[in-house]
Amino acid sequence: MIDIRPAQVADLQSIQQANIANLPENYVFKFILYHNISWPQGSFVATNSDNQIVGYVLGKMEDDEAENGKDNRLSAHITSIAVNREYRRQGLARRLLQQSLKSLRENYRAEAVSLHVRESNQAAFKLYRDGLGFEVKELTKSYYADGEDAYSMVKTLTD
Ligand SMILES: CC(C)(COP(=O)(O)OP(=O)(O)OC[C@H]1O[C@@H](n2cnc3c(N)ncnc32)[C@H](O)[C@@H]1OP(=O)(O)O)[C@@H](O)C(=O)NCCC(=O)NCCS
Repeated sequence: MIDIRPAQVADLQSIQQANIANLPENYVFKFILYHNISWPQGSFVATNSDNQIVGYVLGKMEDDEAENGKDNRLSAHITSIAVNREYRRQGLARRLLQQSLKSLRENYRAEAVSLHVRESNQAAFKLYRDGLGFEVKELTKSYYADGEDAYSMVKTLTD
């Protein structure tokens, strides 16, 4: 039985470990902590019956005025999401994102949400587009450190 709940400070090290284990884009602990301190209702974890973290989503509000000003909407951003390999294709990423987006809307009045995904990451792309209704806004050239392009995706959030 997998439980989805808001991330707490005590979870942040496990989130960082899951991030390192599952993705090439890794974040310093300070940045993960910044999410939790600034938007405590924005990030969620999936835990197994042994209370181990098997997936996470890091969500935040845009704190960059330029990002918020682009279309005059209060915007949220998904920084990172991953589910450990042995727990994939059970709907956990979809559940994590649904909870995070609902909470960013309810707690921080987010009107839209954005994220980036590697052009080659078909699993994540399908999750965002087909599973959750994100749309491609643009292809950002050489977005990643290794030169790969990113789809910049957005979704309008409503009650
Ligand atoms: C992308 C990732 C988070 C998906 O997690 P997940 O828990 O397996 O996803 P879900 O089970 O919620 O899948 C929801 C939908 O996404 C799509 N999807 C997920 N994995 C897929 C795959 N391997 N191939 C094709 N479609 C996939 C499907 O449409 C799926 O719905 P369905 O199972 O009804 O067909 C996971 O594969 C992962 O952690 N990958 C490594 C990290 C990563 O790429 N993160 C995203 C960075 S942008």
